Amino acid sequence: MGQVTDRDQILKALEVVIDPELHRSIVELDMVRSIEISPNGVVDVTVSLTTPGCPIKGHFQSAVAEAVTALEGVTHANVYFDVLTDTQKAALQQKLGRGSLPAGALAQVANVLCIGSGKGGVGKSTLTANLAAALTAEGKRVGVLDADVWGYSIPRMYGLGATRPPVSAERKIIPLESHGVKVMSIGFFVEEDAAVVWRGPMLHKALTQFLQDVDWGALDYLLVDLPPGTGDVSMTLAQLLPQAKFLIVTTPQQTAQKVARRSAHMAHKVDLEIGGVIENMSSFTTPSGERFTIFGEGGGNELAEELDVPLLGKVPLTMPLREQADGGVPLVIVDPDDPASQAIRQVARGIIAMSPVALPVLPLVEVAVAAAPQEETRKPVGMSLPMA
Ligand SMILES: Nc1ncnc2c1ncn2[C@@H]1O[C@H](COP(=O)(O)OP(=O)(O)OP(=O)(O)O)[C@@H](O)[C@H]1O
Ligand SMILES: [Mg+2]
Repeated sequence: MGQVTDRDQILKALEVVIDPELHRSIVELDMVRSIEISPNGVVDVTVSLTTPGCPIKGHFQSAVAEAVTALEGVTHANVYFDVLTDTQKAALQQKLGRGSLPAGALAQVANVLCIGSGKGGVGKSTLTANLAAALTAEGKRVGVLDADVWGYSIPRMYGLGATRPPVSAERKIIPLESHGVKVMSIGFFVEEDAAVVWRGPMLHKALTQFLQDVDWGALDYLLVDLPPGTGDVSMTLAQLLPQAKFLIVTTPQQTAQKVARRSAHMAHKVDLEIGGVIENMSSFTTPSGERFTIFGEGGGNELAEELDVPLLGKVPLTMPLREQADGGVPLVIVDPDDPASQAIRQVARGIIAMSPVALPVLPLVEVAVAAAPQEETRKPVGMSLPMA
C-alpha cells in the first residue's frame, strides 16, 4: 500500500469533526494544529482548543480518531491537544465573522455585565430589571440592553410599551428611560407578539447597532439581559464586548446548576470573565415564617465554588417579585424591603464592591475628542434595525 494516506486526505476526513459550540468544522476553524503520518499507518493529530480545560475534549478525541481511522491504510490514530495562542484565537474570532465595536463606541460605559444562564425561565430578566433599579438606587448611572431578541421581556418589566425610541440629531437612537434606567429593546421596534426571525448576520448587526448606534451616554453599568442558552447572541456579544463580565443565574437544584455550568464553559470559551453567580428562586417563606426549599438547595453555592467566583446572592421566591415583573415597575422600587428586593440590593452592593473604580473625568474628555471624527464619516445607520 506504501504511503497510504496524505495530509490532505486526513484534513478532508477531519472536516466531519464539528466543534459542538461553534457549529463549524475544526478544519474550517483552523483548529487542526498538526498531522503526522508514520509509514506503519499510525497518524498523530494535534487539535488546538480554545481553553485548556475544554469540557468537550472527549468529543474531539473520539470524533477525530474515528474520522482518521476510517481512512484506508490508517492503523491507529493518536489525538493530542494544545491550546490556541492569543493570536490564533483572534484569527478564529475573525473567521467567525465577528469584528469588535469601533473604538470609542462604549467608551463612556464603565462596566458591562451580561446576565445569562444555560436554562430558560430562571429569572434572568427579572433580576436584570431589578438589579438595574437597585444599582440606580445606589446612585449609579445604569442602562439595560435587552439582548433577548426572541423573547424580549424587559419593556414589560419597565412598563414601556411599543414606543419607538427617538433618534438624535447625531442619528443615534436614544434609549427610553424608566425610573432612571436607560432601556433598549428590540421590543420597541416590533409589533407586539410579532415573531422575529433572526438569522446570524442580521442578529449580529442588530446587536452591534444596540451597542454602537444607541446613545447610551455615560453609564456606570450597562446590564445585558441575555436569552436563555449559550447560542449566537452570547457569542456575538462576547466578541463585541470583550471587557464584559458574565453573571450567571441559576436555581438551587442540581440539574439547573449543570446547565448553568455549560454557559460558564461557554463564557470561558469566548474568553469572557465570569463575575459571579446569582442563585434565584432559592426558597419560599410562608407568611407564618415556614421556609420551603422548593427548588432544592445549594446549587448556587456549588456552582460558585466550582467556578471560583463569588456567590453574589440568593434571591428567594416571593409573590410580589413575580407580580411586579408583570406590573411594569421593578419590585426593588415598589417595595425595597421585600425579601427578594433585599437580596437583590445586596447583589447590587456586591457588584459595586467588585467593580473597578472608574476615573471620573479624564476618560470622558478623551472619548469626546476621539469619537467626533468617526461620527461624521460613519453612515447613519440608526434607523435600519430590521423591524416593521
Ligand atoms: N425570585 C422569584 N420569585 C418569584 N417569581 C420569580 C422569581 N424570579 C423569577 N420569577 C418569575 O419567573 C418567571 C420567569 O422569570 P424571567 O422571565 O425573569 O426568567 P428568564 O430567565 O429571563 O426567562 P427567559 O429564559 O425566558 O428569558 C417570571 O414570571 C418571573 O416573574
Ligand atoms: Mg428573559
